[in-house]
Amino acid sequence: MKISLASDHAGFEYKEQISSYLTLMGYEVVDFGAFSLASTDYPDHAFAAAKAVADGNCEKGIIICGTGIGVSITANKVTGIRSANCSTVEMAVLCRQHNDANILNFGSRLITIELAKQITDAFLNTEFDGGRHSGRIDKIHSLTGR
Ligand code: RB5
Repeated sequence: MKISLASDHAGFEYKEQISSYLTLMGYEVVDFGAFSLASTDYPDHAFAAAKAVADGNCEKGIIICGTGIGVSITANKVTGIRSANCSTVEMAVLCRQHNDANILNFGSRLITIELAKQITDAFLNTEFDGGRHSGRIDKIHSLTGR
């Protein structure tokens, strides 16, 4: 599976660690930066990574900033993206089961790297439940288009 990965400067170190972790687990990573700790604007990286998922070039995405909030707001502007900011494993499971989230966000300033890896595992290994949740997803996208 191809994973679109991005961060700003605040999420850079977590992105690097998550990238190695994903590669070790056999995922293919497409990295949209940041590529250093130098200050950068999260919308630039988040938009590019989200677009790769929306265009079908990557199956899922993981986008990190200090809180996960800025990158989540940005990614959700991209048509077809359902980006979920998760700070617990349960949120990561439920964003897949109920919301069919295709992008995961978390905040490097809010959770440990160990928890970030557990959240990543939960996000990548949980399937969408479908059923009653499908109609709700359709309603979300009918508001502004797929
Ligand atoms: C950067 O200082 C910080 O604002 C950013 O990483 C993020 O938390 C924004 O939502």
